[in-house]
Amino acid sequence: MFVVKKNINGRDYYYLRKSARINGKVKAITLAYLGSNRKLALEKAKDFKEKPSVMKMTDDKSREIVEKEKKAEKTEISEFEKHMLSIDELAVFCKRKGFVYPSAEIYGGLAGFWDFGHLGVELKNNIKSEWWNYHVRKREDMAGIDGAIITNPKVWEASGHISTFFDVAVKCRKCKSTTKIDASAAGKEKCEKCGGEFEVLGKFNQLFPVKVGALNPVEAYLRGETAQLIFTNFRLVQENARMSLPFGIAQMGKAFRNEISPREFIFRCREFEQMEIEYFIAPAQPCPYKVGDTEISILSADMQLKNEEPAKMKISEALKAGIIKRDWHAYWIEQELSWFLSLGASPDNFRIRQHLPDEKSHYSTDTWDLEYKFPMGWRELQGFADRSTYDLSQHQKFSGKNLEMTDSKLGKVLPEVVCEPSLGLERAFIVFLLEAYHYDTSRQNIVLKLHPRLSPLKAAVFPIVKTDEAVVNLARYIYDSLKEDFSVIYDDSGSVGRRYARNDETATPFCITTDDESIKNNDATIRNRDTTEQIRVKISNLKDILRKLINKEIAFEKAGRPVNTRIK
Ligand code: GAP
Repeated sequence: MFVVKKNINGRDYYYLRKSARINGKVKAITLAYLGSNRKLALEKAKDFKEKPSVMKMTDDKSREIVEKEKKAEKTEISEFEKHMLSIDELAVFCKRKGFVYPSAEIYGGLAGFWDFGHLGVELKNNIKSEWWNYHVRKREDMAGIDGAIITNPKVWEASGHISTFFDVAVKCRKCKSTTKIDASAAGKEKCEKCGGEFEVLGKFNQLFPVKVGALNPVEAYLRGETAQLIFTNFRLVQENARMSLPFGIAQMGKAFRNEISPREFIFRCREFEQMEIEYFIAPAQPCPYKVGDTEISILSADMQLKNEEPAKMKISEALKAGIIKRDWHAYWIEQELSWFLSLGASPDNFRIRQHLPDEKSHYSTDTWDLEYKFPMGWRELQGFADRSTYDLSQHQKFSGKNLEMTDSKLGKVLPEVVCEPSLGLERAFIVFLLEAYHYDTSRQNIVLKLHPRLSPLKAAVFPIVKTDEAVVNLARYIYDSLKEDFSVIYDDSGSVGRRYARNDETATPFCITTDDESIKNNDATIRNRDTTEQIRVKISNLKDILRKLINKEIAFEKAGRPVNTRIK
């Protein structure tokens, strides 16, 4: 008898096996499933070894045990499927598959800094291009910019970041863990881990200072938010792009914060990317756009003060009922939620929460957060602050420049920022991965069901047999022609089943293969990651069909002739 370990989905399962003669052939049969804990598994195995009855089992008895243990394995795996991935498990998966690594890990990394691997960079770029298309290219009322990371330090004086951008470092008196809290929460918040009281260690500004210049260096800062560059460039963009109110300016790029306790994988980093919009209106200008009917759980400041549970309702109803006060706020919250849903996220994992009066940032008159049910609990994914005329007024004051614009109807006007949808790219990255992560019991591998537009690789191309030159050449020809337009790989290592499993795990939505029939008919098969179904498509149509499948413009079963294959 011997103990074997099977690794399923990164978890170890232990089995007691023995060699037995079944129907005249020697086979290794499973005597018992020993569970997923190594120590307990070895103890159980010892118990079994001491039971002579196990040694003398008949073939029928062996089969009965095998069936019983297969059932136990299935139950344990389905329990595993229901278990939501923890943020640490996600970090392990991301490292194993080439999405995210601790920065410069060979030197021990640096807290709060991360490097994106060969798949991570593709996923990140895809999220950014989806965001840019939806918010900038498809809208007539939006202009984009890309500001500098280091700018004149006066910007941060004017914005209030130098005087007010503080976090408070605290230490739990009971469990001794250190963390950061918002300055407004000092004296109110208790330790998340044990409920203990906090001792305040100090107040720290989050801006990273840098020295600019060699001879007479000037103290500047890495930008703490992308938003300020939108305000400082406001007049130039408005005039050059000939924008009239209402309109927005969008930007995405790096932001840096010297976080007291960077943690939870890439949820809270010191270097991260923001995707932000400042939406400008004439004072009190109403929203001309329809507020959508998407439903979401809502938790207003009032409800929180009364200890009420969130209420599920349409965003349009929340506006009508006066829970969301401004039409523009309701409109932007709905737009942003719809963006996540259009890329495959589930509505039940989102809610919106209004900031309590003492929780708002120094520039905000009203703020809502779009929160997501992260493995650590409900947390901020995206903020929606009403910044009013705070920033433009401050920059007028500090720069001495007039930032008013000329509106054809209103004349000279200093617009207000009615809403600032501000999203962290790394948080969106986590959301899309959590939404996509599935363990498929019948395939016994992870299937990362990312929307094909977000998938790092759009297709893997390979020959079914590596020994037939014509089949191999055709696969290479397909790969060479697709790589001009799509991010694709040529993958011929390991068995076909292994290649499918490997591509399922890294979200490749389509596997394209060539076989004998392809040579005769000039076609290839396409396998759907989510269903394992396959179709045959003429090579001359392949590019067009792949593009339509990625954009979900055509149903998979209608895209080609269905085929039945042995290997799924
Ligand atoms: N311009 C407004 C602003 O910066 P914020 O709430 O401080 O507001 C906006 O940040 C978004 O940026 C957050 O909702 C979050 O998604 C992301 N974010 C903020 N700090 C972060 C950090 N340390 N690591 C990763 N993402 C962060």
